[in-house]
Amino acid sequence: MITAAITAVGHYAPDKVLDNKYFESYLDTTDEWIVTRTGIRERRILEEGATSDLAVEAARRTLDQRGIGPEDIDLIIIATVTPDMFFPSTAALVQHKLGAKNAWGFDLSGACSGFLYALTTGMQFIESGRYRRVLVIGADKMSAITDYSDRNIAILFGDGGAAVLLEPSEEEGYGVLDAINFLDGSGMEALHMKGGGSWNPPTHDTVDNKMHYIYQDGRAVFKVAVVGMADVSLEIMRRNNLTSEDVAYLVPHQANMRIIQSTADRMGLPMERVMVNIDRYGNTTAATIPSCLAEYYGDGRLKRGDNLVLAAFGAGYTWGGTYVRWSI
Ligand code: ACO
Repeated sequence: MITAAITAVGHYAPDKVLDNKYFESYLDTTDEWIVTRTGIRERRILEEGATSDLAVEAARRTLDQRGIGPEDIDLIIIATVTPDMFFPSTAALVQHKLGAKNAWGFDLSGACSGFLYALTTGMQFIESGRYRRVLVIGADKMSAITDYSDRNIAILFGDGGAAVLLEPSEEEGYGVLDAINFLDGSGMEALHMKGGGSWNPPTHDTVDNKMHYIYQDGRAVFKVAVVGMADVSLEIMRRNNLTSEDVAYLVPHQANMRIIQSTADRMGLPMERVMVNIDRYGNTTAATIPSCLAEYYGDGRLKRGDNLVLAAFGAGYTWGGTYVRWSI
């Protein structure tokens, strides 16, 4: 059987930094509250451009690392909840901006689990033997849908893009080896953006009622996210006969440091074996997991042969876990 290996990984964070002090300057909040409740110290904001620009930059870095050109790509899958527009897809815009003239592609909406959904999808195209180079990108310009006057939401999110290249593995036992994904639409009430779609097309009322911003019942989401991320991580370990000793890193979606810590605790992993960058980027939705992979691979902490458990939870509710044996 053909396995999909991750053969390159790239991350792009825009230059503009919003630190916690910025929010102290106009909201009833403190750096101390934000750090202790979320683990976030700063986040990046894309001042000009859209999600496709984050995705293109991440894709370029990934292709450069592999030493191939955009015309070598067969398929582009973009996980995002902040597409540039409803149509055409962000994948179409990225294909054009990148010059990936031999690729087709599509967007996929899985919120904070979007990257894992996209990775699961991309891996099928490689495993089937029909495609040889699939670019899986997680990119979100969360600042476009964040209400900066709401202290519950403003502090949480940032903008970013990150990508992986999937190719057939040259060696057995390396690559994306297993994935479990879940969906429970009853979670819609607690986490959504109701305006702008076919249910509530944009009107003055939808704008006045702030329906084009993220709505989140943080406490409700927190409770299910803690259980969902931990359970799926334990399930992927069990299915693949992995003990905590076998796992080099947990790669969790970066929504809240307390959710990350509790998932690691349940897996029996010390925090040194958990990838974390939430302190510098906040929650960049579909970009968090590949951004961690890119940073840890980039500075040599992630090595060939490392067993990784990727885990995410997000709007839908969506959640999932993926087992990867790192191949580069
Ligand atoms: N500064 C100071 N106080 C604040 C702030 C702030 N920035 N934000 C909220 N508070 C207040 C609240 O108003 C509340 O006050 P009250 O008790 O007077 O009502 C108090 O702090 C505690 O609020 P909680 O909501 O209970 O705070 P909690 O500890 O749960 O932290 C948080 C909130 C960080 C949002 C947390 O609930 C969380 O991380 N939830 C899960 C997020 C998540 O995983 N989302 C999924 C992915 S996102 C996606 O898919 C798009």
